[in-house]
Amino acid sequence: MSWRHRPRLPRLRLWVKLALLAAVGVVVMHAAHLALGNRIATRAIAEEEEVLGRTIARLVAEQAADPVLLGDPVTLFELVSSAARDEGGHVAYCFIVRDGRVVATSFAGATPARLVALRPAGDQLPVVVASGNRRVLDLVEPILDGSLGEVRLGLDLGTVQRARRQLAVHLGLLAVGIAAAGLAAALLMGRSIARPIEEVLAVADRFDPSRDEPVPALPPRGGREIAVLRDRFHRMLLRLRAAHEEQVRVRQKSVQTERLAALGSLVAGVAHEVNNPLAGLKNCVRRLERGDLPPAKEREYFSLMGEGLQRIEEVVQQLLEFGRPHPPRLEPIAASRLAQETLALVRPALDQRRVAATLLGGEDVAPVLADRRLAEQAVLNLLLNAGYVTPDGGALRVRLVRRDGMVGIAVEDDGPGIPQEVRDRILDPFFSTKPEGEGTGLGLSVTRTILDAHGGELTFDFPARGGTVATAWFRAGGHAAPGAGARA
Ligand SMILES: Nc1ncnc2c1ncn2[C@@H]1O[C@H](COP(=O)(O)OP(=O)(O)OP(=O)(O)O)[C@@H](O)[C@H]1O
Ligand SMILES: [Mg+2]
Repeated sequence: MSWRHRPRLPRLRLWVKLALLAAVGVVVMHAAHLALGNRIATRAIAEEEEVLGRTIARLVAEQAADPVLLGDPVTLFELVSSAARDEGGHVAYCFIVRDGRVVATSFAGATPARLVALRPAGDQLPVVVASGNRRVLDLVEPILDGSLGEVRLGLDLGTVQRARRQLAVHLGLLAVGIAAAGLAAALLMGRSIARPIEEVLAVADRFDPSRDEPVPALPPRGGREIAVLRDRFHRMLLRLRAAHEEQVRVRQKSVQTERLAALGSLVAGVAHEVNNPLAGLKNCVRRLERGDLPPAKEREYFSLMGEGLQRIEEVVQQLLEFGRPHPPRLEPIAASRLAQETLALVRPALDQRRVAATLLGGEDVAPVLADRRLAEQAVLNLLLNAGYVTPDGGALRVRLVRRDGMVGIAVEDDGPGIPQEVRDRILDPFFSTKPEGEGTGLGLSVTRTILDAHGGELTFDFPARGGTVATAWFRAGGHAAPGAGARA
């Protein structure tokens, strides 16, 4: 099953992602920095304004003591009016309250009653009064110790608001500048890091250790760490190529080793196969030596001896062909012929143990695309395994099966099946449950290697009735050579 990652975001290049990340980082950090700076600056301005307001209010309070005592409204009016006319336009209003009554005010008409009632007696904390968009800081300054009333001074916070706005504009411009510079720097940095990495990724995508071409070179560029990374990566590719070549050598070797081991398994049967005609030959020779046979009988014996020698030659030829290494060559072969020829190889050994091996169905099965001798070896290993688990006098079956575009040679036995706990390991080279010295454990691993090279597959089924069905799947293809149906 293949699992594919589907990115939710459109695919951005690595260096663009890095740059965006860095830029967002710079902007967030700077925004936090600006917000903090703005707060501190605004508070400083507000405090300065308050100090100014208090100074004016205190001056008025000091100068108002005598006129209040003397009940001189004209001087008091002069005092509050001149306070409200300060140069910077900071003061919005100024009035004097005594016993809850306004005795002098800078307002043109009456002092707004809401403003007078804003504070209970003795409340001296600064209060912000809002009127439309305007904000006024209301300050209180007692005359003498408060026994002669108090001066109320409204400080226009417009200055603070304007300063705040100005500051925000300046800081904002600064933020945009810094973000732009940050983005540019991030782009440059992102490119310098990501470019070499992208090159490495491109090489990794292109590199195929099995292709016969030089390992792509990665010139050491980029920063020091990146150069080291590229260098290591290049060395890793070289090691990968070497490991792959070694693996191919080992596989070839294991195919050959298993071929010889399989020959070993066949020898007993072959010896029997050669022994029979040999015994006949000996008999004939003995009878002929006596020299008392009529000519017709002599001719019959000579003909029998000829047949026996031919049988021996065939058997030896089969073995020689099977054991001889050769370069793989794919050709269309009738699957039934492949099955029959492989059965013929193993049959003498099976006959000795009276194991019946039947080829079932599939005369009309499509030809497969295979290297004959390698394919024989792949199927032979399955037959040897099935034969091994079949008791003397038992039976095994070879069945030709089809699946979309594939033809399988299925070897069925009635053996004990493959225990669940070893199923994962049976394809491992050298894994065997046979007693020491009886098997190399290469059979299935070699079969799998051969089938892989054919674009085929090795599958196992375990029918409910017991036993094992091992199937060697080949790609169906082409037309089998004429007369390829069977061999004697
Ligand atoms: N038809 C089968 N029934 C039961 N077990 C099997 C069968 N085929 C394979 N196995 C298990 O898989 C193991 C590995 O098989 P493989 O053919 O690779 O090696 P082997 O048969 O042990 O040795 P070699 O093939 O070299 O003689 C076997 O030892 C056996 O445990
Ligand atoms: Mg085996």
